[in-house]
Amino acid sequence: MKKSTIWFLLIFTIAGWVVFGDTIIFPGRPALSAQAPDGVNLYAIHCGACHAQGGNIINPALPVKGSAKMKSLAVFIAYNRNPLKADGSKGVMPAFPKDKISDQEMKLIYDHSLTLPGTRK
Ligand code: HEC
Repeated sequence: MKKSTIWFLLIFTIAGWVVFGDTIIFPGRPALSAQAPDGVNLYAIHCGACHAQGGNIINPALPVKGSAKMKSLAVFIAYNRNPLKADGSKGVMPAFPKDKISDQEMKLIYDHSLTLPGTRK
């Protein structure tokens, strides 16, 4: 084999590792480029710490699951932009303005929230 052919094969092999290595090592995992923000990720990032599984770690009486704020996407977004308690006072939940979570991302979070089991039936 010519020296240049060996180099060619070597570089090809290394390039192959770089491009496909991740998929070969972790076959069940989607390629990094496919991990666009989806409802599961967005929920985990913004809501999951307090609302694991759609429940409420801080105030178990007000879980995501079964909340009146889940009635529609519009109600859900309005609540997340300005989360006030039933008596109109500011609770513990932080507000999520558009620069933190866009309307499109809110829809992804909303759709995912509807699938969560919650902690209260
Ligand atoms: C720092 C903790 C925290 C984070 C983060 C958080 N919440 Fe909350 N959430 C609460 C608390 C506490 C309440 C109960 C009301 C209150 O005290 O503000 C609540 C209440 C709710 C309710 C029920 C309101 C009701 O009156 O029925 C929904 C729905 C909700 N949160 C959705 C979300 C979503 C969606 C996210 C992420 C975008 C989120 N929360 C992020 C703490 C949090």
